[in-house]
Amino acid sequence: MYFIANWKMFGGLNSLNSLHRVNKFFKTFKKNKSIKIIYCPPSTLIRPMSKKLKKSQIEVGAQNCHEKDNYGAFTGSINSSMLKNVGAKYVIIGHSENRQFGETDKLINLKIKSALKSGLKIIFCIGETLKQKRKKITKQILNKQIKLGLNKIKNYNKILIAYEPVWSIGTGLIPKSNQLLDTINYIKQKNKNFKVLYGGSVNPKNIHELKSINNIDGFLIGGASQNPKKFIDIIKKTYI
Ligand code: 13P
Repeated sequence: MYFIANWKMFGGLNSLNSLHRVNKFFKTFKKNKSIKIIYCPPSTLIRPMSKKLKKSQIEVGAQNCHEKDNYGAFTGSINSSMLKNVGAKYVIIGHSENRQFGETDKLINLKIKSALKSGLKIIFCIGETLKQKRKKITKQILNKQIKLGLNKIKNYNKILIAYEPVWSIGTGLIPKSNQLLDTINYIKQKNKNFKVLYGGSVNPKNIHELKSINNIDGFLIGGASQNPKKFIDIIKKTYI
């Protein structure tokens, strides 16, 4: 099971103090379980976080990257090899918070290819908006996002797909269990090697319901992951 913390645009150096608690918990809890914890902090914290977690089994990832893997005159941008250079092992690509500002499926595809080339693993986000859900075109949307996002990529063993319904992010709403089961199955039917995570308002209260959906390979957690107690609770409750 994957538990991925997406800190989004939150956190300064003092936020790293909370890692100690999660690390201590993880050391004893992980015995005989196949758990992976990955923290995706803002880029400013990748280096200090990876240093802090050097001896730990918690890994670090980034939240986005530029589509070019070589250097260039792109003010304010960071490419995948630069992220790798400061300690990132993963990168989130295609998050709806970036798609809504014009990140297209084509651009996402270029970013994924570039990040794979740099040796990063990918957390590839897909999901429908509320309007698309109401129109009952969720599967069509997911199909398009997967097809274009993964265009000409053949090997999926470095790619995790994160299904994040846009209407569920930060709202406290989660999909109905039967719907989520059906959607995750739909994604998995596209390729038997796909690992699929769920993201959107995951918290210690709804994790019981979410974990009972037995085809989910893990969770991508936003808000609750900034709080070590909540993050630990989510992980613990997934196994009770
Ligand atoms: P929340 O858990 O805050 O809803 O965010 C989900 C998300 O966007 C993770 O990438």
